[in-house]
Amino acid sequence: MTAQIIDGKALSQRLRVGFRERVAVLREHGVTPGLAVILVGDNPASKVYVGNKVKACADCGVASFHHALPADASETEVLARIAQLNAAPAVHGILVQLPLPPQIDVRRVLEAIDVHKDVDGFHLYNVGGLVVGNTIFPPCTPYGVQLLLETTGIDVAGKNAVVVGASNIVGKPMALMLLQKEATVTICHAKTRDLAQHTILADILIVAAGKPGLIVPQMVKHGAIVIDVGINRLPDNRIVGDVDFEGVKQKASWITPVPGGVGPMTVTMLIENTLRSAERKGIAHDSWDAPTVTVD
Ligand code: GUN
Repeated sequence: MTAQIIDGKALSQRLRVGFRERVAVLREHGVTPGLAVILVGDNPASKVYVGNKVKACADCGVASFHHALPADASETEVLARIAQLNAAPAVHGILVQLPLPPQIDVRRVLEAIDVHKDVDGFHLYNVGGLVVGNTIFPPCTPYGVQLLLETTGIDVAGKNAVVVGASNIVGKPMALMLLQKEATVTICHAKTRDLAQHTILADILIVAAGKPGLIVPQMVKHGAIVIDVGINRLPDNRIVGDVDFEGVKQKASWITPVPGGVGPMTVTMLIENTLRSAERKGIAHDSWDAPTVTVD
């Protein structure tokens, strides 16, 4: 068997066509959707991610407001900036790029963001919403994975889904979203003994561990759907995921490439959440239902 490729770049582009139409409707209502991005310090990877987010805004007609703070910025300064953005009517979404420098308490910062502008979905209110199955803003990476899974046409209900990686950003929310769709979910993490014993049972395997080559063909069930969330830069500068793509492709039924799989979807779902926020704020009233993303 050779797996079919789940093309995140193509799906992103299709979704963005719809986004531009939604931006046009918002503009007709006098609303320009706006996203504020706060970057503290100069972590090179974070700079690239923020650059991609700002570019995606421009691509879809969303205004972006880039706030760069020095690496030695205090927590008070960051909180003051968030307070300012919470109050700014032109800003519908606020994103604080993670990780933050050690002098800043990440939880305090995330909890300061207005829950109605929390387009990353990291505020406790939105995390709680995810637990009970109706968050306002699903976190962007798992949200993107969910849409990628939908493109396969395979219903996750009743399937064994194994998530490798238990981060707050990807693994944990991913597991909750799969559970909400009625999958039987296992979460594996750095302390899991005999990882292969779990992954081999997966009908749906989602890997977000940040370890190149972690998943090899012997760990994958024939016909599994494999989603690789990893983005790792090798010493020779190549970008690879956590899955041995060439090997696992021979066993899986569907697989995401790296690059061109989950990565583009993360940024695209950030725009989706920003539009949803603008629609709720700007033109959401009794007679107007905000569109939700669908995949054909
Ligand atoms: N750092 C790595 N991924 C993310 C993300 O999805 N959002 C934010 N804010 N920071 C990140």
